[in-house]
This record gives sequence, structure tokens and C-alpha cells, in this order.
Amino acid sequence: MALLIRGGRIVTATDDYAADIYCQDETITRIERGIDPRSLAPGTEVVDAAGKYVFPGFVDPHVHIYLPFMGTYAADDYASASKAALAGGTTTLIEMICPGPADEPFEAFQLWRSKAEPLAAVDYTFHMSVVRFEESVRDQFRRIVQAGVASFKVFLAYKGALNLSDEHLFATLKLAKELGVIVTAHCENADAIDALQKALLAAGKTGPEWHGPSRPPVVEADGVHHLCTFAELLGTHVYIVHTSCDAAVREALAARYRGVNVWIESVIPHFVLDETYAERPQFEGARYVMSPPLRHAANQEVLWNGVKSRAISTIATDHAPFRFRGQKDMGRDAFTKIPNGIPSIQERVDLVHTRGVTAGRLSLQTMVDACSTQAARLFGLYPKKGAIQVGSDADLVVYDPAFHGTFSKECSYSNVDYNAYEGWERTGRASVVTVRGQVQVRDGEFVGTIGRGEFLKREPTHF
Ligand code: URP
Ligand code: ZN
Ligand code: ZN
Repeated sequence: MALLIRGGRIVTATDDYAADIYCQDETITRIERGIDPRSLAPGTEVVDAAGKYVFPGFVDPHVHIYLPFMGTYAADDYASASKAALAGGTTTLIEMICPGPADEPFEAFQLWRSKAEPLAAVDYTFHMSVVRFEESVRDQFRRIVQAGVASFKVFLAYKGALNLSDEHLFATLKLAKELGVIVTAHCENADAIDALQKALLAAGKTGPEWHGPSRPPVVEADGVHHLCTFAELLGTHVYIVHTSCDAAVREALAARYRGVNVWIESVIPHFVLDETYAERPQFEGARYVMSPPLRHAANQEVLWNGVKSRAISTIATDHAPFRFRGQKDMGRDAFTKIPNGIPSIQERVDLVHTRGVTAGRLSLQTMVDACSTQAARLFGLYPKKGAIQVGSDADLVVYDPAFHGTFSKECSYSNVDYNAYEGWERTGRASVVTVRGQVQVRDGEFVGTIGRGEFLKREPTHF
């Protein structure tokens, strides 16, 4: 299987130049100007990239596909999520394994792998959530790391479900430091949220518009501060997921200036949607309930500028797909029962291109850095992923910057019954997407092979 991408403008996190890319046996083997067609293997597939960008495949470091959560299950499986990801130019997913506190961690790891293996068309790996930490499970986490999952996830939020006690959090960060793995963290103070939720419901404030007030910015900033205090004590490397607001970004940066090994992720809904969406009447706002919640619009420029200055390392999705009918509407009588999440796996890159690059907020290179290369570097996938280099996997996105259209449910592969960005104008689209040298998408349509995706075994980084 050989592939030539001819005549494109190659854009990586550091470079921008014209060249052809030749791929054999799933990897990039030549990057040269004007590769002579006579030098190609017989049967080489040729993709004309004239007038288009060629990006490294995008990496989404924070998705949920199989997710038992808030009394239901996320609506995607690996087939629908892969198609959606690929149609949007994302070729690698890092999914959160989220078992319940009573589950055995190693069994959970095997369960999540079994969901991915037959259906993935993207390459994938996992962050392993630690929702309890006792001596009896320590060895299971060691085995999971040995099996190639070199990052943990902790929740400071979701009291009574996923959140860790301080004792368990400390022990988890200590083990992570010993093993050389990074800890990703959902940072919101669970007890403060619980108290605010109870007070709001008791006052008859039950609609989705009260989700935001139940978890204000200070609750998130407090969570970031708390995690960073433990990371400072132990020297563990931590990665704050879905950082949504100025106050939380400032806490993380203040910790970084103190020497804490902390990285910041933000997710696409927080860049482009604000709190007014969750305030839409007649329960329409439920579509826009996620945690941390959508914020006041003033925070959006903070996030864009954070990415531009590289203070914020990654733009992920936190894709957590729940249908409006039958799932989101479980919370009609209380916003605390609305499954949290805004599906965005297909729209992320096009939104960053439309609202970030073409709006003049980000350069193309910064877009590639934040949507691909940084995630690959932080989570031990670089330069196999996140790069266009000889020897890198031939995961490539031939991107048409001149495409104009709109986002819609009709064009989306996710198993949900709405699109949070319905009718929005978009500029740009992935024309051709390859995973390890095989074309998986043409002109926004999935044309690939379900089940071809591979589990990416990662080594601890030891930083
Ligand atoms: O609203 C969200 N973020 N849903 C998914 C679970 C999580 O907290 O990441
Ligand atoms: Zn979260
Ligand atoms: Zn999440």
C-alpha cells in the first residue's frame, strides 16, 4: 500500500512549506519537492493536494465514547465516534476510562479496550481514571501502565460518583510520580458544587440555566489550586482538563510560575459557546449543559489568547454525547440529572479553523500545535503521531481552506439527535484523511474500514 500526497502546503506546529509526501507500509518515507512519479511503487495511490494544506492527523486527547454516567450511557460507540472524528480530521483519540468506584481497575481497562478493538477506525489510547485508591488496587494500576496506558485521570468533581478523597488523590499522585505518568484532572470542588446544587433546587431553581450558577468560576479555580498544591508537594506532572475560565487559567499559571509541572487543556465548546446557550428557555438549554459549565463570553478571548501564547497547550473536545430525547431530558425536573456533555468530536478542528485561524486569532501552526502536536508530545505519542516527518505514521489531513458550508446534524456521524453548532457558518473541511497510509475520508464522507484502528501502547515519560 503506497500513497503520494502531491503538491500540498505542509503545515506542522513549526513549519510551513511546499512538498510532496510519499508513504509506504503505513509510514511517511519521503518528503521532497516534485517527487518523480517514475520512482513510485506500482499501484501507488495519488492524492492531488494543490491549493490545500497538509496537516498531521489531529489528536483529540479528551473524549468519552463508552461512558456509563449519570444514570445512562453515552450515545456513541467506536464506529460512530471514529467516523465523526475522521470526518473532522481527527485520526487519534485518547478516551477516558471511567469505571465506578466498585469496579476493578484492570477489568475496566479490559472492558474499555474490548469496546474499541472491533469498531475503531482511528488509532486510540486511554487515560485510566482512578476513582478510588487503596493498597489493594495499587498493583492493578502498575499493570495498566505496563500494558501501555501511561496517564491517569482523576475527578475532583461529581461527589458520590467519580470524585476522589484527598487521601486517595495524594496516593494517586504519588504513584503517578513513581511510575513516571502524567495525571489528567477534572478540577472543580465537589463539596461546594453539592452544597450549591442543593440550595438552588431547594429554592425551586431546577432548570438548565441553574447548572452554571451551581459551579461558578471560583469553584473551578479552587479545584485547580487544590490539585496544584498536591502536585507541588509531590512533583507529579498534572494536566488540567477542560479549563474553562480566566480564574482557572490564572490559578494554573500561578502554579506553573511556582514551579509546578502543570499543563492546561481547554475544550472547543468553551471557546465558541457562552453561558447564554444553557439559559435558553423551554429546557432547550439542556443541550448545552456540560461541566465545567459554559461561561460568560469574556472568558473566550482569554482562552484564545492562552492558546496563542501557548500558555494553554491543547484544544480538545471532551466529547460526551447524550441525546436530547431520552437522555438530556432525564433532567426536566432537576438540572442535576441532565447528563453532562456537548458532543464536538467532528466539529473541533473546523471550529478552530473558522473561529480561530480565519478570524485572525491563531496562526495555522498554532492550530496544529494545539490540536495535534502538543497532545502527542504530552502523552507519549510523538513523533509517531502529531508530526509530518520521515518515520511518522502516515496520518495526514489534506485540508481545503476554501470550503464554505454550515454545521448540521445531517452531516454529523455522532449518534446524537442534535448538533450544538447547528447552522453555524464554517470555513474549511478535510478533503482527504489518512490513517497509517489508508484513505479513511473523502470530502467529509467516511470511506474507511471499521476495526482498522490500533491501540497505541505508550511508555511512561518520566519527564
Ligand atoms: O460535561 C462533561 N464534561 N461531561 C463528561 C464528563 C467530564 O467531566 O469530562
Ligand atoms: Zn470532566
Ligand atoms: Zn471529560
